Amino acid sequence: MSEPAELRASTRFCAVYGHPVKHSASPAMHNAALAQLGLDWRYLAFDVHPTRLREAIAGAQAMKFIGLNLTVPHKLLAVDMVDMLDASAQTWGAVNTVRFEARNPAGEWQPLAQLPPDQIHELRSVGFNTDADAITRSLREDLGCELRGARVLLLGAGGAGRTAALKLAAEGVAELFLVNRTASKAEEVAAEIRTRHPAVRTEVGYPKSTVDLLLNATSLGLKPEDGSPLDEVAFPLPRARAVYDMIYRPAETPLLRAAKAAGCKVANGVGMLLYQGAKALEIWTGQPVPVEVMRAALLKNVYGTA
Ligand code: ATR
Repeated sequence: MSEPAELRASTRFCAVYGHPVKHSASPAMHNAALAQLGLDWRYLAFDVHPTRLREAIAGAQAMKFIGLNLTVPHKLLAVDMVDMLDASAQTWGAVNTVRFEARNPAGEWQPLAQLPPDQIHELRSVGFNTDADAITRSLREDLGCELRGARVLLLGAGGAGRTAALKLAAEGVAELFLVNRTASKAEEVAAEIRTRHPAVRTEVGYPKSTVDLLLNATSLGLKPEDGSPLDEVAFPLPRARAVYDMIYRPAETPLLRAAKAAGCKVANGVGMLLYQGAKALEIWTGQPVPVEVMRAALLKNVYGTA
């Protein structure tokens, strides 16, 4: 991997804002890609309290940052803090990527990456969401899952579960079974899918027969003492062809361990993290990005190994 050049007065910046943020793997992943692309940019991380998010976004804009990533707990708050929402942020109701833009001499809005800082005057912020596409890209590339016409069991109906359910429905899955500890939340998500995607058969509860994919979008499995989010009496694992856990730390949750032992194809959520980052960098740079360099840097940062 190429060494990053030294910091200069002309170096440009991107950053991730979170609270907390110190365990974020995004700086490692993005800086590796920036070095590979030969860009004189750096990607930083800032712990921003949600009450200061508006100021922090305005500050980055004033300093002509190229863009920002936003993570927990900022993604919903930022919807009302950017000047414009791209279609992706409108669809998913959350912003995880901000691109700063300025008017070029012809009066058209252009990403800051394409303009020299001394020619930047009028600025605006545009919110994007790269999380939802990253879910389906990871399911396809890391698990070989064909989603159109698939039967899917989805565990979890919080923020991540709702987005996953809506994205899977938009991809044309045939049947969606939703299970959540708080059943009323699964009912709410099911009702939203029946309205927005009436062709998808949506039920709350475990299916009686096999599924092509079991997807965990609950947070159960993050802590060392956690068990599996699946009730294996209601749904024995051999009934799932593939199992995806959105959790990536630890690399193997109790659910994935059991799924592997049952002979299912398995993948964890590190691919989601990778693809949301790759898409954000594409949005900022306007060019293809070195995904494999990003993957290697991410695996090294999270697991200490590529
Ligand atoms: P995120 O944005 O990561 O989705 P969230 O909105 O807080 O976070 O959702 C967390 C999800 O994990 C929910 O589906 C939650 O279930 P509830 O809706 O019943 O709270 C699920 N979850 C968290 N802890 C759990 C536990 N101990 N057992 C089962 N499900 C759990």
